[in-house]
Amino acid sequence: MAQLWGGRFTKETDKQVYDFNASISFDKRLYRHDIEGSKAHVTMLASAGILTDDEAKKIIDGLESILNDVENGTLEITDKYEDIHSFVEANLIDMIGDTGKKLHTGRSRNDQVALDMKLYVRDEINEIDERLYELLRVIHHIMEANIHTYMPGFTHMQKAQPVTLAHHMGAYFEMFKRDRGRLSDIKKRMNTCPLGSCALAGTTYPLDRNLTASLLGFDGPTLNSMDSVSDRDYLIELLSALSTVMMHLSRICEEVIIWNSDEYRFIELDDAYSTGSSIMPQKKNPDIAELVRGKTGRVYGALISMLTLMKGIPLAYNKDMQEDKEMTFDAIDTVKNCLTLFAGMMATAKFNDRKMEQSAKNGFTNATDLADYLVVKGVPFRDAHGISGRLVLYCIDKGCALDDLSLEEFRKFSDVIGDDIYEAIAMTTCVEKRNTIGAPGSEVMKQVIKANREYLNL
Ligand code: ARG
Repeated sequence: MAQLWGGRFTKETDKQVYDFNASISFDKRLYRHDIEGSKAHVTMLASAGILTDDEAKKIIDGLESILNDVENGTLEITDKYEDIHSFVEANLIDMIGDTGKKLHTGRSRNDQVALDMKLYVRDEINEIDERLYELLRVIHHIMEANIHTYMPGFTHMQKAQPVTLAHHMGAYFEMFKRDRGRLSDIKKRMNTCPLGSCALAGTTYPLDRNLTASLLGFDGPTLNSMDSVSDRDYLIELLSALSTVMMHLSRICEEVIIWNSDEYRFIELDDAYSTGSSIMPQKKNPDIAELVRGKTGRVYGALISMLTLMKGIPLAYNKDMQEDKEMTFDAIDTVKNCLTLFAGMMATAKFNDRKMEQSAKNGFTNATDLADYLVVKGVPFRDAHGISGRLVLYCIDKGCALDDLSLEEFRKFSDVIGDDIYEAIAMTTCVEKRNTIGAPGSEVMKQVIKANREYLNL
């Protein structure tokens, strides 16, 4: 057991208490950020005349060799230490002697851990953003290739009106684009440096908090030391944004699972992204999509846990806050994995355009266009809706599509119908005439795809 605070104690910590209290098993992943923060702190201490330049150099060299040793595997982060902060400080003192004991001047683990988490989250936001970008690129390529791939658009899971695969995927493009926006908002709002807030009330040392903040790439120091050490809003915002990413992934996974079923066959997942059954030889299961959908729950769980964790904590730091880490780490790992696997699955999937188009045709998705045709011929919309509905019923009885009816059959329902009806309700017309911004018509779709390409800097 190696702890930083034995002075006022007369007894060893109970072993179970020590283990219960320790966070090293999970906060060890913060080692790089902890060292980065310490280096900036020491640089500032020297510049403020609190440490000599020699002392600062010795400490910084020591911190850098700890970093190297950890990264090349010669120094292992073990459970012997209470947390990552103790690990770094104890090893520094082992390595450079008494000068190492000056590292923690004008600092507390409370502002230290607040800093480490912010540095870590800032890096991870960049990582997640890159993965979102990669996914958007995959979606963009699917859109580019499928401007004329007709498929049914659904409401209530019922075929509604024809759209295109480009249009359908474009909806997800918008969702994941908003996700990137949310992450970038969080990064802006959280970018203030808590270091120098110390335990809760700042310090009597003449720290230059502006310098520490700028050395670490923050916009400036935080302005209330009590808030600094107990603010976890940015984690709640992050988990909320990640929950939304997962909700989006889960929705598209749900569609992939449906489209991959025998009943639909809109999509064929690559063998490398599917799995088999141990008993049923014919099976090729969409496990990746199902797992992504399933993992959404644990990210939501992290958000709810974090909100619950914070709701009863009086100012300022309380040990409850140590619980912020595992759930945040798990949510970040989960989202990163899901984004990468999902992007790979979509990039290798094949779309069955004939099946999709056939499905759109069979589903009376042009019934609205038939009504609109009648309106153009002077029939009031409500009557047109009725005529079109009766024609649909007739086709259901007959087991055919609207397009398959003869002109005589059409005219039994309305004598305004002429042989231009076939052109008016053809799939191409139904889609191509929808050219308002955001609609599936290819003219406007191409403009959207161009805007997306610019957004992606392609
Ligand atoms: N492991 C602790 C955490 O993650 C570090 C801060 C400890 N501070 C304290 N006063 N015990 O919250």
